[in-house]
Amino acid sequence: MTSPNPVLTRPAPIPATSASSASSAGAAAGPAHTPLGPPRVRVRELSVRYAPDAPLVLDRVDLELHPGETVGLLGSSGSGKSTLMKSLTGFTPITSGTVTIDGADVADLTGRGLRQLRSNIGQVFQQFNLIGRLSVLTNVLLGSLHHAGPLNRFGTFRAADRQRAYELLERVGIADKALDEARQLSGGQQQRVAIARALMQKPRCILADEPVASLDPRTSHTVLHLLQSIARDEQVPVLVSLHVLPLALEHSDRVIGLREGRVLIRGRTADMDAEALSAVYDHDHEEERA
Ligand SMILES: Nc1ncnc2c1ncn2[C@@H]1O[C@H](COP(=O)(O)OP(=O)(O)OP(=O)(O)O)[C@@H](O)[C@H]1O
Ligand SMILES: [Mg+2]
Repeated sequence: MTSPNPVLTRPAPIPATSASSASSAGAAAGPAHTPLGPPRVRVRELSVRYAPDAPLVLDRVDLELHPGETVGLLGSSGSGKSTLMKSLTGFTPITSGTVTIDGADVADLTGRGLRQLRSNIGQVFQQFNLIGRLSVLTNVLLGSLHHAGPLNRFGTFRAADRQRAYELLERVGIADKALDEARQLSGGQQQRVAIARALMQKPRCILADEPVASLDPRTSHTVLHLLQSIARDEQVPVLVSLHVLPLALEHSDRVIGLREGRVLIRGRTADMDAEALSAVYDHDHEEERA
């Protein structure tokens, strides 16, 4: 007789805490957040070029991310949004300026230090990046592989991690799909799995690079609402790049708009003038007219 596969055994449901039940996927995100305490991520005068004789892709960019806030990163294609995000995980060359996370200078990190940094940053991508033939629960558990020693002596995930993965699936509203293959889920559901996987890392910040670009408008709202409520409840900063202005205005506490690698506009979403903000895309229209 074979014993049941621990990964595929559904753990007992966990009673929702007041924080998680108040912030389930459908609940309101609550009042605007006022950041407290020092920034967890600090970008100062960051300039990036990919090759010595190439043009600057980022030009003296400043950015701070505080626990609990969601910052919308706007800009047309090629403006440098992904480059800025990759600079936070040490994947881009820093030409000048500094990037610090929890006080650690990313440019100083190598080997183990860099791996540690990356394990502390949850990432969410446009294409979800799930392993389709594995169960939803296992995909979430893969987030724990960033940290050392996730497997027990039988080479399976530890019971406590499976319990936590299930709890996170409840948090993102799809615990009933835990044992389904990831490829059987809709795009919006898959993105929820990716968010749960990022949370499995117990991240110090979350980077979401165009997380709703493949989703329909209604699902986009739900996923962004979820990210913003996670930022508040877990007190983890979320940086989210978006192409659609109304989505950014509705689901970010602050926005920063890049144009050709420079910060063109920044401020609290509540104070933003949508027309001024649309200037980050103006040159697209100029190109179209040309
Ligand atoms: N690895 C790389 N090597 C050389 N140039 C790069 C590299 N990655 C990005 N670039 C260039 O840097 C610029 C900014 O690219 P980036 O991907 O950051 O823009 P983006 O704002 O994320 O665009 P999109 O909205 O299309 O995703 C572009 O001109 C791009 O060609
Ligand atoms: Mg990009």
